[in-house]
Amino acid sequence: MKLTPEQLAQFNRDGYLFFPSMFSPEEMKVLLDEVPRIYSEFRPEIIREKDGKTPRTSFAAHTYSEPFAKLGRHPRLVEPVEQILDEQVYMHQFKINGKQAFDGDVWQWHQDYGTWQRDDGMPEARAMNVAVFLDDVNEYNGPLYFIPGSHKEGVVQAGHDLSTTSYPLWTLDGPKVKELVDKGGIVAPKGPRGSMIMFHGCLVHGSPSNMSPWNRVIVYLTLCAKSNHIVQHKRPAYIAHRNFTPIAKLPDNCLLDASVKGLPWPGHEVDEAAMASDAVPKLWTAEVAKEQDAKMPVSA
Ligand code: SIN
Ligand code: MN
Repeated sequence: MKLTPEQLAQFNRDGYLFFPSMFSPEEMKVLLDEVPRIYSEFRPEIIREKDGKTPRTSFAAHTYSEPFAKLGRHPRLVEPVEQILDEQVYMHQFKINGKQAFDGDVWQWHQDYGTWQRDDGMPEARAMNVAVFLDDVNEYNGPLYFIPGSHKEGVVQAGHDLSTTSYPLWTLDGPKVKELVDKGGIVAPKGPRGSMIMFHGCLVHGSPSNMSPWNRVIVYLTLCAKSNHIVQHKRPAYIAHRNFTPIAKLPDNCLLDASVKGLPWPGHEVDEAAMASDAVPKLWTAEVAKEQDAKMPVSA
């Protein structure tokens, strides 16, 4: 897949490109069928909403789930990013954001590169987010909001918000958001499952809570130029990866061809000893939820 000069100019102007229906519903079914199994596991890579139960974001599934490993090596995602960054890329971060029906919480206004720079020591904004919709995204189920052109601001001042949601984020204040929106407006790309968005690490974005009865599962890959790898390891390796091996792409039909394998992900070869021990994640059951509740501070 090759981006045209017009698409490249649009990306430079707006900071994102939207590709409705980039993947077929059949390809998305392979991924979506795997999500309940992943979310039912009790592993540190799965961050729950403030209720302690609803899955909010699940990191690094490409290292242990066959369909998601294939997505992480998919040429329709990797090739355009290599083209823009003019270099091979490695996986800096991989997450499945649940934004579950009724309970999916807000993502405050932020820039991703603000976090990669401050927390991970990523030298430059030479990393790209690629989002793939596993569910239809509409105006009701918490679509992404972008401020077009805001990537041109570079890294803007942000505060570390540790309390609004269950997941800490470097967030922008209201006056700064207003200033940027006055210039660029707000867009909310919506479309059928299988749609894809590429967006610049400095693009200011967020998303509202999901009050609708429809899940809004989106997978995000963060692909970083090989020469731009992070130099600081403050966050767990399952959030900010320390494996800088360039991604080896699979054939275009990989999601539907069972003979094509995405695992093992290089650097994450299966550790048989760990698999046989207590380190194996427990399933998310009512009992596990009760144990977790017991550990949570009682709120008024
Ligand atoms: C993010 O910005 O990292 C997530 C936003 C979302 O999934 O709505
Ligand atoms: Mn983000």
